[in-house]
Amino acid sequence: MKKFTSALLALAALALLASCGGNETVPADLSIVPNPVSMQIGGKGAKATAKVVTRIDETLAPEAYILRIADGKIELAGGSDAGVFWGRQTLAQIQSQCGRKLPGVLIEDKPVFSYRGAHLDCCRHFFTVDEVKAFIDMMALHKLNVFHWHLTEDQGWRAEIKKYPRLTEVGSVRAETLVGHYGSDEYDGTPYGGFYTQDQMRDVVAYAAERFITVIPEIEMPGHASAALASYPELGCRGKDYPYKVQTTWGVFPEVLCVGNPETFQFLKDVLDEICDIFPSEYIHIGGDEAPREEWEKCPKCQALMKEKGFKREAELQSYLNNVIEEYLAGKGRKIIGWDEILEGGVSQSATVMSWRGVKGGIEAAKMGNDVIMTPNGYCYFDHYQTKGREENGEPLAIGGYLPLEKCYSFNPYEGLNDEEKAHIKGVQANMWTEYVATFDHVQHMELPRMAALAEVAWSLDNRTAYDDFLARVTEGLLPIYQGRGYNYADYAFKGIE
Ligand code: ACM
Ligand code: ZN
Repeated sequence: MKKFTSALLALAALALLASCGGNETVPADLSIVPNPVSMQIGGKGAKATAKVVTRIDETLAPEAYILRIADGKIELAGGSDAGVFWGRQTLAQIQSQCGRKLPGVLIEDKPVFSYRGAHLDCCRHFFTVDEVKAFIDMMALHKLNVFHWHLTEDQGWRAEIKKYPRLTEVGSVRAETLVGHYGSDEYDGTPYGGFYTQDQMRDVVAYAAERFITVIPEIEMPGHASAALASYPELGCRGKDYPYKVQTTWGVFPEVLCVGNPETFQFLKDVLDEICDIFPSEYIHIGGDEAPREEWEKCPKCQALMKEKGFKREAELQSYLNNVIEEYLAGKGRKIIGWDEILEGGVSQSATVMSWRGVKGGIEAAKMGNDVIMTPNGYCYFDHYQTKGREENGEPLAIGGYLPLEKCYSFNPYEGLNDEEKAHIKGVQANMWTEYVATFDHVQHMELPRMAALAEVAWSLDNRTAYDDFLARVTEGLLPIYQGRGYNYADYAFKGIE
């Protein structure tokens, strides 16, 4: 029996299980079906039936598990139901690789990071509830546990808010959409929209919770607010007579919420009341990226507030907004996460910083004692191209960048930090911005297999094996599952296309 005692992701085990028909196997007639829930896996093991004996072992960390296949039995112990669930995913990989004749194995596994996220932008393009659930299934397979749901943007507001019906009546629909790359100046002339009702969002939260995944909603403030302002123009610095519109192209826009207008705060608090009612997550993401603060320089209301508060820089106005909102959410027992721009005007100790413009912001925040989620664009932006040749290699149009699987796999979120600072790195996350990703098939092409690389960073980190070994393990342990589920994964890495 093989024993893996360190925090190895089960994928690591699979490399060493390459000869599934070897000596150390349980009897071939052992029936293998997860209990009590059936696993929807494809490949050779899909139709096998079997019994797995599960138990909770409170001496383990909550998400840890021990999987033992020996003596004709499959035993799975988890530190909690979540640990058992992650162990089931590992078993699915082994089963997919080995079919009914399972090798003897002992896997002791636990995640390095408590926050293992995947983000999906449902604003630039809209994905149905079923597609969002399918995304959550993909996450579960890879043992990721936080779904960051990007719900508001310049190009569409996607969350039903009962007190502000225009957010979805007006803000969820754009008149048309840019065709091709940014700057093409060609539009499709077709209105595009969609939103989630509160019942639908609750349904997604429940679906995710069954898979031990927390949903963190993102409500962008004060920038990326064109759709909100098209719905309620009085909340913008340009005022109620300005013809705000839901944007039809990509980029960063000057439309910004007016922080000098008290109604803006009332609006945000009301929206967050409803959001908190739907989403039980400890954290609410308040956006904060790419705010066009120059607008505040020209706005009499914003300037008056700056004077009253004694602020010298517009960034401090954004910090003021963040602090008011953070305090409001704290009153509901919630905490905030914001993109790394929230550091710029000063940030409270209790805010969590999501580092996207490289790791610099994350390192700065960790050094100040703030918690951090690392999602640097160079390693975690799954909207980037996967090969150097881009379209020449058959890749669909993407926003830019170059993030091959191997680079993803090499990410070290602890680099440059001492032990005390490392303790503030709560996790990692992959981001899927969808300007150029209009279908769910395309989402899968961008996510898979890069999601597997992120999972290895999050679960194994220092125990990662060589890249070639990882690639072999993905090929043997995950591809059959991808194929069985009909996932549209990218195969550049498997074909050696760089
Ligand atoms: C971001 O990519 N604007 C967070
Ligand atoms: Zn203003």
